[in-house]
Amino acid sequence: MSKAVNRAWTMASRPEGEPTAENFEIVESTIPTPKHGEVLIRTRYMSLDPYMRGRMRSGPSYATPLQPGDVMTGEVVARVEKSESPLYKAGDTVRANIGWQEWAAVGAHIVRPVDSDLGPISTAIGILGMPGMTAYFGLLEVLKPRAGDTLVVSAASGAVGAVVGQIGKLNGCFVIGVAGTDEKCAYTVDELGFDAAINYKTQNVSAELVRLSPTGVDCYFDNVGGPVSDAVFENLAMKSRVAICGQISQYNASTPPQGPRNMAALIRSRTTIEGFLVYDFELQHEIARTRISNWIKDGSIKYKEDVVDGFENAPEAFIGLLNGKNFGKLLVKVSD
Ligand SMILES: NC(=O)c1ccc[n+]([C@@H]2O[C@H](COP(=O)([O-])OP(=O)(O)OC[C@H]3O[C@@H](n4cnc5c(N)ncnc54)[C@H](OP(=O)(O)O)[C@@H]3O)[C@@H](O)[C@H]2O)c1
Repeated sequence: MSKAVNRAWTMASRPEGEPTAENFEIVESTIPTPKHGEVLIRTRYMSLDPYMRGRMRSGPSYATPLQPGDVMTGEVVARVEKSESPLYKAGDTVRANIGWQEWAAVGAHIVRPVDSDLGPISTAIGILGMPGMTAYFGLLEVLKPRAGDTLVVSAASGAVGAVVGQIGKLNGCFVIGVAGTDEKCAYTVDELGFDAAINYKTQNVSAELVRLSPTGVDCYFDNVGGPVSDAVFENLAMKSRVAICGQISQYNASTPPQGPRNMAALIRSRTTIEGFLVYDFELQHEIARTRISNWIKDGSIKYKEDVVDGFENAPEAFIGLLNGKNFGKLLVKVSD
């Protein structure tokens, strides 16, 4: 053990609008000693995800909000340093929801083993973890695309969107990605095999959709909400489906955003809209994990990780995620 203390990032105060460095504080404590049935784990990679912004606000949600002083929520990949349980031994790799911290002693029954045969261990909280599962089930179980469908995915180069588009291609869809830079757009087409991409910051999304898919959009995987979704809603095909996965464009809003503006378009198109959570499909995650791993191994699916080095850089990286600074699944490398 090279460090004498555990460090944890806590929410120092609730952000108003965009989070700032002042909303986060590092708190040091003694590295805990595992009790009977527990494992002492040391974080190697920490996942940073948009939903964490939701935990920082008060008010109704599907999850309990953080209180000032609480450790920031999050999942990590960690090494078992000491085990007081027959379930794990020192040296095993696991994933656990211990939040933004370097060390934790937790019940062995609440950590999950990481199978390094499926992929590099960092992928256990990326494409083979929560974001990959979100893409797989949101697309295949909520949108249920058919070959020949036009599928539009927003935040297309990100952890979820990149996987959605690639599985859409495997299912015979015409895939259009929407992203915030030309580099991200080029990546989705040239590297991931999407049919087209639209830069929502420099192009007219609605006009581009008309040009790329004159018969309309059959499936929309919505990661962002706001003006991008307004533009897609204007172009939905008859009997189209919309999966509401995330609304990142609204996460920093301090007052509730204006409601959907063009619902009348959905009457014409007889569209079905369904929100979902990745955990709705938890019992099937292992099947999806194996399928995605096989697709990576046979070259059908690619992934990109944006790895920030150093525990101390987590808040800055997280603030960047909410502004589109990440390119791929955002991770913090905490220890070797
Ligand atoms: N329902 C579920 O169970 C579930 C599970 C996981 C994730 N999610 C949701 O899925 C979405 C994507 O998550 P992720 O982990 O894959 O994140 P990500 O796409 O890797 O990163 C977030 C991206 O969102 C885009 N963005 C930020 N602000 C935006 C804005 N105002 N308008 C449009 N795009 C904006 C940025 O890309 P650009 O540069 O392209 O703008 C940014 O890089 C999030 O909304 C998240 O909350 C939902």
